[in-house]
Order: sequence, then C-alpha cells, then structure tokens
Amino acid sequence: MIDFKALAKEYKTPLYVYDFDYMTQQFEELKEAFRGRKSIIAYAVKANSNLSVVQHFAKMGSGADCVSIGEVRRALLAGVPKYKIIFSGVGKTDDEIKEAIEKDILYVNVESEAELGRVELMAKELGKVSRISIRVNPNIDPKTHPYIATGLHDNKFGVAIDTAKRMYIMAKNSAHLDPVGIHFHIGSQLTELEPIREAAEIVADLVRSLNVLDIELKFFDIGGGLGIKYKDEQAIKPYDYAQAILGTLTALDMTIICEPGRFLTANAGYFLTKVLYEKQNGAKKFVVVDGAMNDLLRPSLYNAYHKVEAITENDGECREVDIVGPVCESGDFFAKNYKLPPLEHNDLLVIKSAGAYGFGMGSNYNTRGRSAEVAVQNGEARVIRKRESFEGLIALEQEFLEK
Ligand code: LLP
Repeated sequence: MIDFKALAKEYKTPLYVYDFDYMTQQFEELKEAFRGRKSIIAYAVKANSNLSVVQHFAKMGSGADCVSIGEVRRALLAGVPKYKIIFSGVGKTDDEIKEAIEKDILYVNVESEAELGRVELMAKELGKVSRISIRVNPNIDPKTHPYIATGLHDNKFGVAIDTAKRMYIMAKNSAHLDPVGIHFHIGSQLTELEPIREAAEIVADLVRSLNVLDIELKFFDIGGGLGIKYKDEQAIKPYDYAQAILGTLTALDMTIICEPGRFLTANAGYFLTKVLYEKQNGAKKFVVVDGAMNDLLRPSLYNAYHKVEAITENDGECREVDIVGPVCESGDFFAKNYKLPPLEHNDLLVIKSAGAYGFGMGSNYNTRGRSAEVAVQNGEARVIRKRESFEGLIALEQEFLEK
C-alpha cells in the first residue's frame, strides 16, 4: 500500500505518483502472453513519457513506439536500443524523417502515399536506405470513444488496403526504401477482442497477398489499444489477446510487435490533489481542489471517469459533489456528481488510473506550473520530475520584455 498522505506531505500537491512495481507486473504479464513467439513490446511513449518511466521499461527489454522525433530522442536517452524504436504519426516533417533515418531506428511507420515519397526522398538525400512499415487502416469499428478511435476510414490514420499494396510495390522497387513491417492500430481503450481479431485477420491476409508478390515482411505490428479498468469495464486478458492475434498468423513467421501504453501505465498512476474548500451554488455542491484540468485533462476532454478516493478524518455521510479545479473554465472538473464524504481544507483526494495520458497531456494554462512526478518502487519513493517553477514558465519570454 502506498502512503499517499506521507507522499503529499513530503512532495506537496498537486502530485503524480507512479507505482513502478505495478508497471513491471503489467509488462511481464504481456510478455508472458506472447511467450514462445518472436515478439517485441514497444512501449507507447506518449502514454507517459517521463524519462524514468521509459527507462524502467527499457530495462525490462522494452522497445518504444514514438510519435515525434522528440519521443525518439527520449527513448534513446532512456536506453531503448535503436533497433527497437518505431516512429509513427500522420504528419512527420522532413527534418524528423531525416533524423529518424540517421539514427537508424527499426523503421519509420508510413501513413500516406505522399509521406512514402518524402521518406524516399530524405533517404536518397542522405544516401541511405530507410526501413519502413505501412500503417494500414482496416476500416474496423473499434467500439471505443470516438476521440480515440483510429481504425475507420473516417479517421485520419493509416491507408486503405489497396493503397497499402500499391505503396509496398513502390517501396520494393525503390533503391532507398526497405519495406520490413506492417502496422495497424484501430483505437485506444479497447475492451472488445473481436474488432482487434478482425483487423489482424484483414492485415494478415494483406501480408499473404504481398508474399505472393515476393514482398516478405518481418514485423507484424498490432499497435496498442488494450483497455484497462477505470470503473467497471471488463478488460481483455493479455493471454486472450495474444491468442486471438496468433490465430490470424497461421503459416506466417513474423515477429509480433505490440505498442501498449495505457495497459502498462494507467493503473500504476495516481494524481494527488488537496481540498481547498467546499462551496455551494444553489443546489450544487462543489469541492474545489488545488489540481486542475491543466494537470489531468481526460475528464474535461473525454468526460472520462476516474475513480476518486478521499483521505479524510471526516466520516460524515457521503453527498454528491462536483470536484473542480481553480482554472477559469467550466470544463475544469475531475468528476461530476461524485459521492464523497464532507471534506475539509487540506484533506487529500487520490485520483486513480492517472498514469497514462495524465501528466503528458498537461499544460501551463493559467500560468500553472506542472506538478512533480514521484516513482514508488520496492517501498521507496523518489522524484522523477521536479515541480515546474514560475521562473521556468517565463524563461522563454522574459528576455523579450521591452525595457
Ligand atoms: N500505437 C499507436 C499508433 C497509437 O496511436 C497509440 C495511442 C498507441 C499505440 C498506444 O495506445 P494505448 O495502448 O495507450 O491505448 N489521450 C487518449 C488516448 C490517445 C491514444 C493515442 N494513440 C486518452 O487519454 O484516452
């Protein structure tokens, strides 16, 4: 059990706390599910890009799925070997593509025909060959929140099967491209297995038809998306997930790559925030806390549910409250109509499942420095990111003040 009260006292609030042992457990469970098959777990850095978090996974043999050259640099800095780094994303700049080729990462995951042309040109300019994979959009409804669904033709991600085929042929005939992989990712927080299996089957069929054309791919990249339990969702079991994928790969000897983010970090993370005061507006009761949407955006952006635990001496009867922050937006809330006991100044709220897409989606809106991050491992706590200071926030502007 993590002593949240002690951590809040020592490191102040708002504060992110990550249970590194839980991350280890999740990583090992997933690795175990693919045992006996060539596989790479490429941690999706975007879920929680703290260097120490990435390093923690790197030490267990993880690769990294990156979506900007900044993430590629982070992964390398954290000790992820270059041959386990993938660079995806619908809009890569020429400079990013060049750097990825120069850094000799596993492959650049290409998301459009136009991009394939740019990657070829950049490789040519550098006098190199770029390993690539192509992100296929299998047009499958992943049955998740529309903002995090990616595998439908309505979404901006990937290319249709026919386009992909054309692109592989073009890549094979290019002196500067080496097609090594195929990729799909139909969405995030997936709790149903069938859409994933269907997508894998469509993509595996494409691999077989490419084999006929003498295009042999080594990597079958199934993206991320494994859902977790925020409230009462039924999460997919890693074993079932692996079996469903493997079932589509008959007669294909490929290395499976998966890119989990949320599964590895979400339920390892806690966001600690202190109660400033309660207030009543008409019939509505609010608990105002020191954390805000700039720290944890998910409730405001997706109306996402995060469990909240109150640490208080008060054992009064629970009432329904809205938990809100100090930011000047009505959308600045962590929960609505949530049952909590009466709270007092300095009581602590622990917001759960905050380890993925929490800190990383934070901002400095309202000139709020982002909170510190603390890792807990083997019963010991350590800071892995300092709290941002006011001086830090203005550092890039101050020199431009008129005298
Ligand atoms: N691979 C690719 C290509 C992705 O686009 C993503 C996530 C992942 C892997 C990792 O997905 P995961 O295993 O974490 O589901 N901000 C949203 C989630 C956005 C996900 C974006 N892509 C949220 O807070 O729910």
